[in-house]
Amino acid sequence: MKQFNRRDFLKLFAATGAAVTVSTALQGCASVGKASERSSVKFDHGVASGDPTSNAILLWTRAVPENSAEKQVTLGWELAADENFSSIIRSGTATTSASRDYTVKVDVTQLSPNQRYYYRFLGKNSKSPSGKTQTLPESGLKPLKFAVFSCSNYPAGYFNPYSEAARDDSIDAVIHLGDYIYEYGAGGYATQGSQEIGRGLPENNNTELFTLTDYRRRYALYRTDEGLQALHAHAPFIAVWDDHEISNDTWKNGAENHQEDEGSFIERRAAAVQAYYEWLPIRPPQGEANLTIYRDFKFGDLVDLIMLDTRIIGRDKQLNYDDYRDAESGQFNTQKFQQDMSSDRSIMGKKQLQWLVNKLNNSSARWQVLGQQLLMGKMNFPAAAFAADDRSKVTPLLLQIAELKKRLQNGEELTAQQKAMVTQVTPYNLDAWDGYPIEREMLYRAAQKANKQLVVIAGDTHNAWHSELRSSDGAHIGMEFATSSVSSPGMEAYLSLDTKTAEQLAKALPTLIEDLKYTNLHQRGYMNLFASEDAVEAEWVFVDTIRSKDYRVVNKHRARYTGS
Ligand SMILES: [Fe+2]
Repeated sequence: MKQFNRRDFLKLFAATGAAVTVSTALQGCASVGKASERSSVKFDHGVASGDPTSNAILLWTRAVPENSAEKQVTLGWELAADENFSSIIRSGTATTSASRDYTVKVDVTQLSPNQRYYYRFLGKNSKSPSGKTQTLPESGLKPLKFAVFSCSNYPAGYFNPYSEAARDDSIDAVIHLGDYIYEYGAGGYATQGSQEIGRGLPENNNTELFTLTDYRRRYALYRTDEGLQALHAHAPFIAVWDDHEISNDTWKNGAENHQEDEGSFIERRAAAVQAYYEWLPIRPPQGEANLTIYRDFKFGDLVDLIMLDTRIIGRDKQLNYDDYRDAESGQFNTQKFQQDMSSDRSIMGKKQLQWLVNKLNNSSARWQVLGQQLLMGKMNFPAAAFAADDRSKVTPLLLQIAELKKRLQNGEELTAQQKAMVTQVTPYNLDAWDGYPIEREMLYRAAQKANKQLVVIAGDTHNAWHSELRSSDGAHIGMEFATSSVSSPGMEAYLSLDTKTAEQLAKALPTLIEDLKYTNLHQRGYMNLFASEDAVEAEWVFVDTIRSKDYRVVNKHRARYTGS
């Protein structure tokens, strides 16, 4: 496959119009302009803010001209200290055009730290909804609350977890760990039953996404969800992509869901990244014409939040169990598999790893939080469960092996075959950090050497997990808290589990998986993360349904980590 070529990428960006408007003007120096000079626009996709620092915040909206012949639009914007906009702190004008899908970004700088602000955009005769946001504390140990999300799939259901967080006034920032959209067409993954609940894909966007227009329309669709609009208007987002913003199981030069007859992967990725940057309130550290998205945020002296890209920038291709199985005999080539697993394959790319190690070394915050996509904790499942010839046998097998393990732990004698069932384990997902154990070890060593308090947050799996992070020699490294999905189906769908069996299996898994402390395998939701000087505490919040906008919170679980 063709390697990434910076010139190709820039060429695709050459048509991009006015990028981010940077405001450095102080109060009174700029204004929203005369109404007659502003364009007649509709604000159908709400407002958003993101990538806060102690003195800046990025504001976002989409302003589509009433008159479709108008290619360039001019808007006003206001940032106020109060929700009635009686005390305007800053204001200005911004332009956008069809070349960036009429999305607007204003980077408001020279603000005060740890301050709540309200903002809105103005057209000739229209006003956007107003949004609420806040800057980060510059120093000190002010306790923080983050709401953590991943995996919102429109056809799978209503984004009720977003709605729930949008009602919580105590959130300092939203962290989105990716799969903000899904690339599939009608009939693809998790689209079953979408028509019945009014979440079918529209006719002009019901195929798999390949082009810039395809990706843009998908973002526009997702942003019609009331819960998502409400949450964007409610708190600043700190977001990073996972694979489905491009295509399933993306790695640096391809993806599982990109076939050779589907055109150039590099062009597809450029289209996907362009639409992502247009639609997300994000300030890419090297600008929108660059793939680099990893960046960090300093929340006073309490938390350094380091956001990572484990997908695009440097990931080597995933290993696949099937490649090690002899087609005729079915024999698994363990030696070759172990050899490949212990080779120096990268999930972040060496440059990002070095950047991360430097960040850890230089961090003086109480907590170092890594915001990233994939489970980092070891998820070694009994190999016997993989050998099941159909999926319906997996759960009974796992429950049986958990019982055997308990008996073994209680000192009971087991047969050699039973013992093997308990002790022979293998990672369940080679797309996660488990498939890149050498680089994981390098990261663990760096954190250990720098003597940092590592907390890892993850998404991707569509289920909730809490694991201790331990190096290959068993040393404690940190703690991982992973959020369930907003709406994508999880293990319960994959293994066709009813609620009772899903709960039974969730109870058994921490017995089977050494570093696992908790899991929820069947409920959709999100995760609050509380940070204070004493502890980082996760609170998983689960809703009863995503099949209707009418939902209730039905379950919560908390776990506290006081550091090492
Ligand atoms: Fe996902």
